[in-house]
Amino acid sequence: MAPTNAPTVGLPGIDQFSPAQLLRTARLFASDPVLPSLVDCDNEESQWVELDSSPNLQIWLLTWPAGTQNRWHDHGESAGAFQVVSGTLLEQTSSGHRREFRTLVAGEGRSFEQNHIHNLGNVRSGTALSVHVYAPRLTTTTRFAITPTGLKSSAVDLTGLGR
Ligand SMILES: [Fe+2]
Repeated sequence: MAPTNAPTVGLPGIDQFSPAQLLRTARLFASDPVLPSLVDCDNEESQWVELDSSPNLQIWLLTWPAGTQNRWHDHGESAGAFQVVSGTLLEQTSSGHRREFRTLVAGEGRSFEQNHIHNLGNVRSGTALSVHVYAPRLTTTTRFAITPTGLKSSAVDLTGLGR
């Protein structure tokens, strides 16, 4: 029997990530000792470096000089995770009128689902570094303002750099 040309079926690839997978990915990239050399930790302004990217996954290294925060925002249709590489970050989340605060030090991280709204910042001295993973990659970020009735959307960032 003569061989036939079977149709080639491409691998589907990975386009869905569980929260645990996102956090493991953030931890893996955060363990790279070269990260501090990719940014200027003496710069007084926040910096970000895209470490890897595909339509399904986006990975950023961010710097957080003392006193910086990225204000209240969501991540569009993306779920994600972040891992503190060095320093300390304070994450604020809101449930109705109740504000929750979570301190994460180097080696700690967390994942989040779609529609997660938070405000991340460095309230300590010295520059903090963190790795952020988004799946799928960020396309929009909605900014929120605190009002007497809770968080209200104030602007949409189409660049997806809302972190
Ligand atoms: Fe964020």
